[in-house]
Amino acid sequence: MFEHIERVPGDAILGLIEAFKKDTNPEKVDLGVGVYRDAQGNTPVMRAVKEAEALLLKNEATKTYIGSHGAPEYGEVILPMVLGAGSPVLEAGRASATQSPGGTGALRLAADFISTQLPGKGIWVSNPTWPNHHGIFTAAGIELHKYPYVDAENRLDFDGMLAAVKQIPTGDVIVLHACCHNPTGFDLSREQWQQILEVIRERSLLPLVDFAYQGFGEGLDEDAYGVRLLAENLDEVIITSSCSKNFGIYCERTGCLIMVAKNNEQMENIRSQVAIVARENYSNPPAHGGAIVSEILHSAELAAIWREELTEMRDRINTLRRDFVEALKPYGLDQKYACVAEQRGMFSYTGLQPEQVDRLRDEFGIYMVRSGRANVAGFSHENLPYLAKAIAAVN
Ligand code: LMR
Repeated sequence: MFEHIERVPGDAILGLIEAFKKDTNPEKVDLGVGVYRDAQGNTPVMRAVKEAEALLLKNEATKTYIGSHGAPEYGEVILPMVLGAGSPVLEAGRASATQSPGGTGALRLAADFISTQLPGKGIWVSNPTWPNHHGIFTAAGIELHKYPYVDAENRLDFDGMLAAVKQIPTGDVIVLHACCHNPTGFDLSREQWQQILEVIRERSLLPLVDFAYQGFGEGLDEDAYGVRLLAENLDEVIITSSCSKNFGIYCERTGCLIMVAKNNEQMENIRSQVAIVARENYSNPPAHGGAIVSEILHSAELAAIWREELTEMRDRINTLRRDFVEALKPYGLDQKYACVAEQRGMFSYTGLQPEQVDRLRDEFGIYMVRSGRANVAGFSHENLPYLAKAIAAVN
């Protein structure tokens, strides 16, 4: 039965974790998978998370199922975090939250919902996008298409994007990255979000906004600009949110599918369908990560600690972006890589070509995705001179 099954290469991003571990180069640098790193190169548990976990350990009274939509206390805090406290969308009862196993789980719920409830609709993703978008949507049987996002000079190609979005068939789904675009780090300006909103409205498209890095770009509220603009001005929006990065709880698989409908009645109808999708995939989401987030955001004191820690992470990344470009100055490469200082979030599309990425790995033990995507959080003031020297050597 299994004789004909062929081995396939592993996931290109997750595979870098193993390859990096095996490398014995003492100067090796991991710029691969999107996890935050501190100055020592560690991905520590945040203080607010540790404190919340201590409280949970003390107070947790049961480990019974939490239901297909997850814990209501979690939804209660995620909705205002994403849509804004006092959002008119929340006041109108138009938004539903379903706790999911990570942002990836939320995307899969969205994909299954689209394929079962909106059959025949195509889905449009940016070129490039997070490679797993391709896998998730095609696995759900949805036809995938691309719109341009980056030009040949490694700049945001907004004109190309807008022209392509104007051609998307009416009623199709368009995937947008709320902030910290993965893999490029190029985000839309507020004016550009306005223009996208107009086209979405004209063509009656259904936006699916992937919001995995809230707080890593400009700030918790600033990063939500596009999400809130669409939710407040359109009848229907799908949002997939993740707490992996902003709470640093990657392995706890904590995300949320937010469905925004025209009114409360339609929201409840959709919500009942999402429960079925969740039930058929994994029944109930894992509880622990949602409980951590809920504990933190229900406590003014823990929430303040968490916000401070998140600000520190964001500021560190943005400083390293600028310092990276500075470190390239002595090699005359600062202009060539100036985009790194302008991009936002954990990732940069550096413009390094696959052959250069291969050389960086083989000759210097520097690991990044072959597309030239670097996890900027892997930079440190210790490794910047080494990185700059290596990049100069492959240029
Ligand atoms: C990444 O793009 O590196 C992260 O989103 C982690 C992942 O699952 O790929």
